[in-house]
Amino acid sequence: MAIHNVVDQMDVKEAYNCWLQYRKVDNDKLFQLYFKSVAAVSNSLIIQSVIQELELAFHSMYGKGPDISQQIHEQTTLILATYQDIKLADYGLNGDIFQEINDEGYVIKSSKNGDKEAILLIGKTDKGVLYATHHLLRLIQTGETLKELNILESPRNKIRMINQWDNMNGSIERGYAGKSIFYENNKITSNMERIKDYARLLSSVGVNAISINNVNVWKVETNLITNVLLPDVAKIADILRAYGIKTFLSINFASPIEIGDLTTADPLDNDVKQWWKQKVEEIYRYIPDFGGFVVKADSEHRPGPFSYNRNHADGANLLGEALQPFNGIVIWRCFVYNCMQDWRDRSTDRARAAYDHFKPLDGHFLDNVILQIKNGPMDFQVREPVSPLFGALESTNQVLEFQITQEYLGQQRDLCYLVPMWKEVLEFDTYSKGAGSTVKTIVDGSLFSSKISGIASVSNIGNDVNWTGHTLAQANLFGYGRLIWNPDLAAEEISREWIQLTFGNDETVIEQINHMLLDSWGIYENYTTPLGIGWMVNPNHHYGPNVDGYEYSRWGTYHFADRDGIGVDRTMETGTGYTGQYFSPNKEMFNSLDTCPDELLLFFHHVPYTHTLKSGETVIQHYYNSHFKGVEQVEELIARWILLEDKIDSYRFHNVLERLKMQLKNAKEWRDQVNTYFYRKSGIPDEKNRKIY
Ligand code: GCU
Repeated sequence: MAIHNVVDQMDVKEAYNCWLQYRKVDNDKLFQLYFKSVAAVSNSLIIQSVIQELELAFHSMYGKGPDISQQIHEQTTLILATYQDIKLADYGLNGDIFQEINDEGYVIKSSKNGDKEAILLIGKTDKGVLYATHHLLRLIQTGETLKELNILESPRNKIRMINQWDNMNGSIERGYAGKSIFYENNKITSNMERIKDYARLLSSVGVNAISINNVNVWKVETNLITNVLLPDVAKIADILRAYGIKTFLSINFASPIEIGDLTTADPLDNDVKQWWKQKVEEIYRYIPDFGGFVVKADSEHRPGPFSYNRNHADGANLLGEALQPFNGIVIWRCFVYNCMQDWRDRSTDRARAAYDHFKPLDGHFLDNVILQIKNGPMDFQVREPVSPLFGALESTNQVLEFQITQEYLGQQRDLCYLVPMWKEVLEFDTYSKGAGSTVKTIVDGSLFSSKISGIASVSNIGNDVNWTGHTLAQANLFGYGRLIWNPDLAAEEISREWIQLTFGNDETVIEQINHMLLDSWGIYENYTTPLGIGWMVNPNHHYGPNVDGYEYSRWGTYHFADRDGIGVDRTMETGTGYTGQYFSPNKEMFNSLDTCPDELLLFFHHVPYTHTLKSGETVIQHYYNSHFKGVEQVEELIARWILLEDKIDSYRFHNVLERLKMQLKNAKEWRDQVNTYFYRKSGIPDEKNRKIY
């Protein structure tokens, strides 16, 4: 385990436990009243995990564990059961409410057991009981009343997934929190305890699926679906299953050649079809509830159906057919573009690629194929418009892809709370079926009555003692789970809850950290690339400024800045035509300089530096102002954090302080490089005469 500072064990434990602190609760009465005697009426693998979690939590909070039995008796005050295992009417519950909720939903209800007060945690299935238990534990830890509970909950999204980008050599692509917890030295880890703790964290916020290897499937990882490695993959799946989480693998489209003895991976070739069918049968012998495959094909040099002049429906359906008999699914990524594109050629535009490739294939995919679409058309920049593919695919299952790991957003050295950004994406109205066709209604399956859909995200954890490098980045993993369970939660509700669970209920702590989190995305945007232009990062590793930095080819920049102006013309009349991929009125709104929102202006338009924004500032002055402001705001973040020195344990306090100092250095570099660059390019001085290097 990587422990970076000299710290006492207790502090490390707090960093490690994330939001499952189960801090001591000085209220023995509460324990006597509700938790002394528990009946776990239903029994299953998942219920066993629930019992373990309750014992751990109660020992930690009250210094003692409950008596647990399978029968309800006179003393019972906490009842755990699925709705079919209990006589609901005895507790004032009507079975009909369970028809309103899906398989993972639950009811928490205060009731009576004889003359005793009792709390019921009733799931539609055992997974519901697991989620209800965590709900109750959150109520206890945040100091909410446990009286007159009457809660009905059901997750909005069916697939709530995490994508690990872990490689078997232990590295993590775009990982900023140490090494993989799944692999070391080209083997699957033997440290199953750490994986179990990860499963506890994920299930506590409702995550129910995970792919455990990088979407770029290299040589060694291609073997994960062979009988050499499947027994070990099965061990991981066993652990995750006990927490209601299904295991998926990313696969290499060229597997029939690389690990089979075929000379082709052509999706329409009968031998290839047969090969995948047998392969899938073999996988299910090891993992009977295996989730399915995640596939990155024909992108950034990965193999795919294009090599055989086939399209992506041919590719995805090949795997879908093989998985169908086992109820497995194919998650096929839409991140398909020509990374060697010559950017001087304005007739091509990377932003158009996903739509151009996949829109024509709408309706051609099998029922168990799901397209996974990144939230924006480019690549997880600090601000991008929502991908126009959302809304455009009416007859295809789809999953939205977010990135919790902060690849372009400060890499967990800089603070960036992502829930506000994700909320904007989910609330975006695509107008595909008229007003109200929001992204959240597309990915929850309601708008197009999709069979399967949901949200996936690239994880931000590694084997650092606090899992996420920056302790406050734990809020993003927690927030992701909570938000995709219920997209209507406010960013602030989620952050407050996270702070209370993670640091306790001290009002100053809550207030200061809340401010820091809620301001952080805007701050990061201010000192990096405001107005929607994105990039300007160092190529390859993507941290820190490099205004002309551009990977893959030597042609061009992402921002098209010259001495007169900046931005990418994506209009229909004079630009790449990308705006035409949206439905009206978004199409016209983005297309017109008058109505395009300031924060995305340079994504859609090339304008002179002197162009006046809706705010009244010119583009160039806005660039200067926001870069100066961003640095000042980071200084404020530090000042807020320092106020908490006596209220937070030393490991976590110093971990965050160290990161904030790195952030300040980074912000200054961004400010100086960006301001100097644009001053030199434009020749226009700062109105306020501040020092530009
Ligand atoms: C980004 C990222 C890559 C990753 C790719 C993907 O381009 O930099 O590391 O492989 O996204 O999503 O496939």
